Amino acid sequence: MTFSELEERTPHALPVREISDGVHGDDPDPVAAPASMVIFGITGDLARRKLVPAIYDLARTGRLPAEFDLVGVARDGANLDALLQESVMAHARTAFHPAIWSGLRGRIHLIEGSFDDPSTFARLAVVLDELDRTRTVAGNHVYYLSVPASLFTEVCHGLAAAGLNRSARGWRRVVVEKPFGHDLATSRVLEAQLARVFDPESIYRIDHYLGKETVQNILALRFANGMFEPLWNYRHIDHVQITLAESIGLTGRAGYYDGVGAARDIVQNHLLQLLALIAMEEPVTFDPDGIAREKIKILSATELLGPLDHTTARGQYVAGVYDGQITPGLADEPGFSAQSKTETFAAMTLGVATRRWAGVPFFLRTGKRLARRSTEIAVTFATPAHGSGALRHSPVPNVLVFRVQPEEGIELHIGAKRPGGGMRIEPISLGMDFRSVFDAAPGAYERLIHDVLVGDSTLFPRREEIEWSWKVIDPLLDHWARSDARPQSYGAGSAGPVGADQVMARTGRAWRKL
Ligand code: BG6
Repeated sequence: MTFSELEERTPHALPVREISDGVHGDDPDPVAAPASMVIFGITGDLARRKLVPAIYDLARTGRLPAEFDLVGVARDGANLDALLQESVMAHARTAFHPAIWSGLRGRIHLIEGSFDDPSTFARLAVVLDELDRTRTVAGNHVYYLSVPASLFTEVCHGLAAAGLNRSARGWRRVVVEKPFGHDLATSRVLEAQLARVFDPESIYRIDHYLGKETVQNILALRFANGMFEPLWNYRHIDHVQITLAESIGLTGRAGYYDGVGAARDIVQNHLLQLLALIAMEEPVTFDPDGIAREKIKILSATELLGPLDHTTARGQYVAGVYDGQITPGLADEPGFSAQSKTETFAAMTLGVATRRWAGVPFFLRTGKRLARRSTEIAVTFATPAHGSGALRHSPVPNVLVFRVQPEEGIELHIGAKRPGGGMRIEPISLGMDFRSVFDAAPGAYERLIHDVLVGDSTLFPRREEIEWSWKVIDPLLDHWARSDARPQSYGAGSAGPVGADQVMARTGRAWRKL
């Protein structure tokens, strides 16, 4: 498919809401200004499973700008049309609608070429210029780097050499996917490269967990309600558990995952962001600066609690039984080296050195091929001190659970009297499923791509957040790299390695059941 072939198609009109200039103020759902979005790596896994389906969802719900084009850059774009249609049919949140797809497809352009070839960028510049000339507002470009981090430099260099990185007319925004480096040192190198090419305010670092509606709800629940904040401190909270359990394995991503592992893939970004949202102070303003400032304070006060051999655990899955089926182990994942010490499970204990959180452990765990897909944050309150009587023998800690996925909602565990004689207390739970109350929320990528288009960086981690997060986990990564021990094995479909249970047991606590 070439640009001119595509140009000849007559795109169907996409549904759009009334156009605005993209300046949104307090509008909860602003309309974006005309723009071209370039996806480097449009044939890759992320673009096919998440980005293009999310763009389709935006088109379907009328939230793309009226003048919007998507330019895909790939080494080989054979069958792109069919590939993208399949992706949309399989992964979009909203139902497939042929007219919407055909309207969007007519606005997708392909540049084939390698990222180290200046002519790829020269051809891209021509296409973007053509598109700009058809627009009422020209020069707005988003560059989405959906490529391995090792190619960031090449792509940034190509954009700069073609003069696409900055412009006197319109805005330029670049979206960078994690991993943001391999550790603190490499993330700084990466940031320095980005900073040479793009202005700081045009860099959007994506952590898709922040685009999840339930994650944004953490701040709403904490700060819009009077009952939680007075108890939100070391006097009343015993500990916090943050779990991101996946039932899937490597899903063909061994090439990316081997050498990265669970701590870099999930803890450094998604879990530390969740921790920051749970632990941060109320921001003075709920704008990008206000929220970032408070998250940075928490991340800079977060540290691993040791000794690391007792407070952390790592594992690799072996064959096991999931959902009644024999499920293969890591050794059978194509492309994963049998000698690899890369962990598919990580658990660790962190502390937040602030007055509010003095002495409160934060237990984090994540793993692939676990018993269940579940992401949640459980805040366990201290067990009340009953002086006397029957209550003393049946203490029930209150637990407030933020359920991020798959059942999105909130749950409060409390103790209640069991009917009948005596005063026997049993835990019961009060629960709320967001989907039973609210309309379906946009998907995470849908929300974040829209935010980039309207220039709202609230849900995008800042450079400092990324750096502090590396500072938190780097000592553990070093510790594991130096250790002769291999990650412990755990069966696919289990709750993780025994070492993770021991981490908790040493503190007299237990993980919540998966
Ligand atoms: C990504 C990780 O950031 O998050 C993947 O790279 C992981 O390994 C995914 O599977 C989980 O995201 P979600 O939204 O499916 O929970």
